[in-house]
Amino acid sequence: MKYNRILLKMSGEALAGDKGHGINGKTIKHFAKEVAHVMSEGVQVAIVIGGGNFYRGVSSASEGMDRTSADHMGMLATVINALALQDALEKEGKLTRLMTAIEMKEIAEPYIRRRAIRHLEKRRAVIFAAGTGNPYFTTDTAAALRGNEIDADVLFKATKVDGIYDKDPLKNKDAKKFDRLSHIDVLKKGIKVMDSTAVALCMDNKLDIIVLNIFEREAILRCIKGENIGTFIGE
Ligand code: GTP
Repeated sequence: MKYNRILLKMSGEALAGDKGHGINGKTIKHFAKEVAHVMSEGVQVAIVIGGGNFYRGVSSASEGMDRTSADHMGMLATVINALALQDALEKEGKLTRLMTAIEMKEIAEPYIRRRAIRHLEKRRAVIFAAGTGNPYFTTDTAAALRGNEIDADVLFKATKVDGIYDKDPLKNKDAKKFDRLSHIDVLKKGIKVMDSTAVALCMDNKLDIIVLNIFEREAILRCIKGENIGTFIGE
């Protein structure tokens, strides 16, 4: 295996499937199966999940809502998704632990780094919810932060597209996919695959990122086994 411990960033929006909003039962089951396959190979999996299928803090802020309040709502949305994912993973027979960056002890453990690492060592999928616990930070940044904290070998950014293209592949037939980019390329080209805070955090701490399509069967597992899938961001 190329990687022993991974941080997987899942999009909340992708969870909605074709419903466009909320959680699609089939989609979450698919996500859980993908994670379960990876875990069955002995890989330690930590997950950060977004909340865009319920609420996007930035959009409401742009419509005049106080940004901090909007981001707090967005963070709570990630907890809903995390609970759903935890349930789906347990249905696949996997051990899981859910940790939140904002304390809500009645439904999840508070985030404690050393404890998270211990859970991973015991082959439990650890789901990190409520972002970083701070407004103005996206769940991509939470993924970069947690990935560095737990010393992940790589950060997988699971999207609906199979990598990074020079232009929108849905609108341009001649769009070309990048197999490899450096972090600084992503920042310089202004590629919007993750926000710049997240990319910079990964760059400064030498955490590689792989962007791939979560709907492609076993994409993560194949990548961990050494196949060149998606777009690699690193040196
Ligand atoms: P080990 O210490 O490695 O055995 O880990 P563990 O997670 O099995 O031990 P623990 O006794 O701490 O947790 C048992 C269960 O309670 C697990 O499902 C935890 O996720 C859950 N749990 C632990 N702490 C909290 C908490 O503060 N709040 C909530 N809601 N659940 C918790």
